[in-house]
Amino acid sequence: MSIEKTLVLVKPDGVARGLVGEVIARIEAKGYKIVSLRMLQADRALLEKHYAEHQGKPFFEPLVEFMMSGPIVALVAEGNRVIEGFRSLAGVTDPTVAAPGTIRGDLARDQGTKVVQNIVHGSDSPESAAREIAIFFEGK
Ligand code: RTP
Ligand code: MG
Repeated sequence: MSIEKTLVLVKPDGVARGLVGEVIARIEAKGYKIVSLRMLQADRALLEKHYAEHQGKPFFEPLVEFMMSGPIVALVAEGNRVIEGFRSLAGVTDPTVAAPGTIRGDLARDQGTKVVQNIVHGSDSPESAAREIAIFFEGK
């Protein structure tokens, strides 16, 4: 057994479009457990920490601006291999080519914006998950 935790964010586009329930429903329907949940307005300092690996990339500033553009929902999902499992539920980064059946494939498309808006974030490794869960939930 390898029970893991992963950080999921419903990004500002997902919240604005009323898709929080849809995202949570898909996580729960798959059989994962939601063990923490909060809504917040992210500020620049928090996002620079969260997206530290992307600092210096051309999409970094548009990404931070987008993530500050409205409230987000942060949650921790738990289950065996949930890190890989949620990435599979989310689909690939580019919603134009994300497979139908995935969150991004079913619910997002290219909006012609500076940074791709794709409804959700999911941690990509156990190390990222531990780091990101601490950023969003430590002391909360
Ligand atoms: P996430 O971290 O949000 O789960 O997404 P991801 O792993 O699929 O993608 P990642 O490479 O970590 O990029 C983080 C977010 O930055 C935006 N992005 N835009 N070329 C681009 O325009 C571009 N590349 C990345 C997306 O919002 C992506 O989810
Ligand atoms: Mg990523």
